[in-house]
Amino acid sequence: MESTPFNKYAMAFLATVFVVMTAGILSDSIFDSHAPEKPGFIIEAAEASGEAEAGGAPATEAVPIATLLASADATRGEAIFKRCAACHTGDKGGANKVGPNLWDIVDRPIATHAGFSYSGAMKDFSKGGQELWTYDHLNHFLTSPKGYIKGTAMGFAGDKKDNERADLIAYLRTLSDSPKPLPAADAAPAGDAAAPADGAAKPAEGTAH
Ligand code: HEC
Repeated sequence: MESTPFNKYAMAFLATVFVVMTAGILSDSIFDSHAPEKPGFIIEAAEASGEAEAGGAPATEAVPIATLLASADATRGEAIFKRCAACHTGDKGGANKVGPNLWDIVDRPIATHAGFSYSGAMKDFSKGGQELWTYDHLNHFLTSPKGYIKGTAMGFAGDKKDNERADLIAYLRTLSDSPKPLPAADAAPAGDAAAPADGAAKPAEGTAH
């Protein structure tokens, strides 16, 4: 092939086009490599707000379990217990499944059910079986199992709805030959006890004077 001046110009033109296109492709790939930062950032933000919610949970838990149980309904709780039944039986002498049998769970020493192998986290929390499943412990644990007992093997996300949890705990209470007394709202019995004492003291004072 003869190298004419025209061919030289054509080659130079093509070479220029090649360089420009290459630069374009390279710069595209530079911009592409920046793209993943966006989704990463969004996911981080979503996680952060999730944590904020979890962190905010104790604030909404301000209602004491005694108050919640006062308007709870064990029958509704029985329906909610279906979510637990995949892993737990609730009948007397029932089998351990993924989780331990829950008969007589209220005030049962934590992590002590025969034949079940508990996580180290749950055993630590029980302080060697000294801690009992009080209404209060149940309420916090069922709000957020992993939030309350970090490292527990219970794969249940928790139920943040006060009314549902109260119904559920009211139902758990019935899983017993002699259901434990409902917790009294702390303030009421203290006030009741104080009132008669005062009343008794006053006439005595009166007669003394
Ligand atoms: C995916 C399976 C699973 C589900 C669903 C589940 N649990 Fe559990 N649960 C477990 C496991 C496993 C343990 C033992 C945890 C450990 O050892 O850390 C446990 C432990 C418990 C304990 C402590 C028992 C003890 O003997 O100390 C209670 C109380 C409990 N679960 C209640 C419930 C309730 C109520 C529900 C329904 C709202 C529920 N769980 C849903 C698996 C589950």
